[in-house]
Amino acid sequence: MNLQFAAEGADATRALGARLANALRMSAAAMAMPMLVTLSGDLGAGKTTFVAGLLEALGHVGPVRSPTYTLIEPYRVDDRDLYHCDLYRLRHPDELDDLGLRDLRRPGSLLLVEWPERAEGRLGAPDMAIEFEYAGDTARALVFEARSPAGSDVLAHLSAAS
Ligand SMILES: Nc1ncnc2c1ncn2[C@@H]1O[C@H](COP(=O)(O)OP(=O)(O)OP(=O)(O)O)[C@@H](O)[C@H]1O
Ligand SMILES: [Mg+2]
Repeated sequence: MNLQFAAEGADATRALGARLANALRMSAAAMAMPMLVTLSGDLGAGKTTFVAGLLEALGHVGPVRSPTYTLIEPYRVDDRDLYHCDLYRLRHPDELDDLGLRDLRRPGSLLLVEWPERAEGRLGAPDMAIEFEYAGDTARALVFEARSPAGSDVLAHLSAAS
């Protein structure tokens, strides 16, 4: 199952992030298990912008910076642990062990990973994969694909709230 959206401008991408936040909130399945969401697309395609919109909708106040060097940034929002990862600078998939991502996978926790390809399959199967594609200077196409039953539940909430 997948859903596609057009985002004209950064605010539209932020709004889609907020929409995913609401869908996650409404999904009992997503509250009951750790959710892994991968964000794929070229540099500047809007992945961090999307995460900022999602975090803001969950109540985060303040800037959302790309964890370019730390690779991971933890947040506590809406009674859940959220981890924003950017693996662009991962030198080797073995480094993932040092990040301890596996320990972060608790019920209700949310792991958002930019550049998941750098992990070369070591992240495990995502619940949802989001693709960001350039469709012009300020236009992007976002494709949400559910990859697990929990991901499908979230996607169903996402499509219901239009
Ligand atoms: N429709 C759009 N959606 C998202 N960002 C847009 C859009 N139009 C223009 N932009 C601009 O593109 C840039 C997107 O940057 P962002 O950091 O979100 O990309 P990214 O995919 O996380 O890149 P990286 O791979 O370097 O982490 C921002 O400067 C933003 O203002
Ligand atoms: Mg980014």
